[in-house]
Parts: sequence; structure tokens; C-alpha cells
Amino acid sequence: MAKELGVGIIGCGNISTTYFSLAPLFKGLNIRACADINRSAAELRAEEYGVAAQSVDELLANDELDVIVNLTIPATHFAVSKSILQAGKHVYSEKPLVLSLEEGEELQAMAKAKGLAVGCAPDTFLGGSHQLARQYIDEGGVGRITSGTCHVMSPGMEMWHPNPGFFFLAGGGPILDLGPYYIANLINLIGPVKRVGALTSMANPTRTISSQPLAGQTIPVETPTNIHALLEFVSGATITLSASWDVWSHRHANMELYGTEGSLYVPDPNFFGGTVEASGRNKDIKPLEAWDHPFGKVNQESPNGPRANYRTAGLADMAIALIDGRDPRCSLERALHGIDVMTSILKSGEEGRFIDMTTTCTQPAALGIDEAQALLR
Ligand SMILES: NC(=O)c1ccc[n+]([C@@H]2O[C@H](COP(=O)([O-])OP(=O)(O)OC[C@H]3O[C@@H](n4cnc5c(N)ncnc54)[C@H](O)[C@@H]3O)[C@@H](O)[C@H]2O)c1
Repeated sequence: MAKELGVGIIGCGNISTTYFSLAPLFKGLNIRACADINRSAAELRAEEYGVAAQSVDELLANDELDVIVNLTIPATHFAVSKSILQAGKHVYSEKPLVLSLEEGEELQAMAKAKGLAVGCAPDTFLGGSHQLARQYIDEGGVGRITSGTCHVMSPGMEMWHPNPGFFFLAGGGPILDLGPYYIANLINLIGPVKRVGALTSMANPTRTISSQPLAGQTIPVETPTNIHALLEFVSGATITLSASWDVWSHRHANMELYGTEGSLYVPDPNFFGGTVEASGRNKDIKPLEAWDHPFGKVNQESPNGPRANYRTAGLADMAIALIDGRDPRCSLERALHGIDVMTSILKSGEEGRFIDMTTTCTQPAALGIDEAQALLR
């Protein structure tokens, strides 16, 4: 197989700039064309990043493309990914992969029948900090993980995103929008989930946008914006996950994991970097010794300060996995299990009962310093 894959992008909105600007850091990727239902959005990105702007149909038929990245909104992920597979190309999707397990299983069957791969974000668990946490757990630093807590809570999305309506419709909400970062990292650190239970609610049936250009517009809320879930892992670990857009401020950490020998404090799974801390039985909490992981190195300024951002690492890992014939870390099997976990959390909230997972997955291979370096140009 070729040493790099021709990449096309469908969906040229907010996150597309991250893919266009960071993909050149990685081996195996060559972005050649982009498309959007809104032609001018594709033309804008094409001009900014020196690729071809095409219609969606032209892009699907483009012989120079091996993999198409689906950066459309969650409600169209399934239909767009299905059309990519029908066109005979590999898919890499932004999260969430799809909005129901049935849709995911249909993609899985199609991909299998056609011998194509489907990969899915998030890839932030490949970050230097999360891989350091993974190494510490694998080496027995905190013993066997028995429990933990995860909290991702804020006032919402209508204050910053230019077009936030989709976040509050079915397929949005904090569990499907931000849950993927937490579930993917928990799968990375602990493995697959066995069953879930949850209470869900929403503070308000409508929200008012305060970001530009739609400031003042009222949008409907059609999915829970406040979720308190319990996850039992196959390993036996039990984790509390609260995800909310109805909280103005709080004092909970993003992720704390408690083991038989100590505790591990994992930074925000939405990002690649951050400080990992741990304590032993003596309760003395200290940062883990930093390691020189390529995906922990600061490479960007952001409104919150300098940060490490290597989004597209999951796409690059999938490209190299296809070239080398190995399991991609951001695989369909893991994304589908994540969808099972998240949609079962919402279902549990509706039905008031615990729900057993019908899917499972393996932990992704750890991505140490050498493996991460090998993905970079
Ligand atoms: N914005 C972020 O910071 C961010 C971060 C991580 C992940 N994501 C994920 O990335 C995806 C896109 O988010 P975004 O913020 O870029 O949204 P966005 O609304 O800014 O952009 C989506 C683009 O997709 C296009 N589109 C919609 N339906 C289409 C279709 N059927 N065919 C072709 N084009 C279509 C829209 O015209 C728009 O340009 C979402 O799944 C989101 O969860 C976003």
C-alpha cells in the first residue's frame, strides 16, 4: 500500500480548521479536497489551506481520495459516513460516531462487507498526559482501579459556538458531545463497560444564544442537559460520571481514579496535555514525573494559555494502521462501544433502570514515546 493516504474532508465548519492545520504534522496523511453542503464554506477552507473545493458528490467520486473525514454535525454523521462507505472509501468521523447503536452496527456491517475501515474521534486519549496515566496504571502505580469519579459540567455551549443549535437537539447534549472524551479515556485506562444506570434532566426547555452572529435567538432544548450516570466496568471498577450544561460553577476534578494502592488524578480528557498527579497509601498527592512524550509538547496558544493540541493523531494512527495492517487505536469497535455506553446512559435516564451493554471492545494499545514519534513527520 502507498506510504500516505489521500484525504478528503466533508464538513468545513468550526473544527475543520483544526484538521487542516494539524494534519500536516503527521505522516500518512495528504489532504487533497474538501466539500460542504454549503459550497462557500468549502471554498473558504480550500483557499485558506490550498486544497480543491468540490461538491459532496464530486468528493465521493474523487479517485485521489482513500479516506474521507466526516466533520459534519452529529445528526448527519450516519448518513454521510454511509455515503462514504458506499463510495468505497475509508471513513474517519468526528464524535459521536452515530446517534444509535443500530446505526453504528449498520456502518460496521457495511464496512466489513466492503473491506473498509471506520475510525472515530476523540483521539485526545493519545495525549502525553493520558498516556502517562495509562503507563502508571499498567505498571501498577495505584494497584487495581476499583472506583472513580468524572465530572464535565459547565453553563453550556450557546456562549461561544457560532451555531450552537445542534448541541441541544437529539444527538447533542453533554453526554454525546463531551461524554466521548471521558468514555474513550476510561476505555483507554480501564477497558470496556459492563452496565450503566443514570438520572437525567434539563434545567430549561429553551436557551438563548449569546455568541455571535446569532445572539438573541432562542433555541429549543430537546435532549437532557444534566446527566448523573453510574458505570460498572468489566474489570469490576465502578465510576460516577456527571455531565451537565446546567452548572455555572463547581469544584470537582475532571477525572479521579481510585485504586487498591493509591489514587490517580487525570487531567481534562478533552485535551492532550495537563498535569497527572497520584498518591499512594500515604495520601501524599504529587505530580507524576513528566515524560518527553511528543503529544504532550505545547504547540499552540489558546485563550486559556499555551497547550498541546495533536487532534488528527487518531486519523494519522488509522492511516498508518491501514498501511501497516494493524488495529487502529481510534477504532470502530471502540467507538461503537462508546455509543452503546452513551445511548444506554440516556435510555437508563428515560426508563429508570440499569442497562447491560450489548457490545464490548479491547483496550487500545498504549501509545508510548516511540510509537507517537513514529506518527509524526
Ligand atoms: N467545534 C469544536 O470545537 C469541535 C471539537 C471537537 C469535535 N467537534 C465535532 O465536530 C463536528 C462538527 O462540529 P463543528 O463545530 O465544526 O460544527 P459546524 O456547525 O461549525 O460545522 C459543520 C459543517 O458541516 C456542514 N454540513 C452539515 N451537514 C452536512 C452534510 N449533510 N453534508 C455536507 N456538509 C454538511 C455544515 O454546513 C457546516 O459547515 C461535530 O460532530 C462536533 O461534535 C467539534
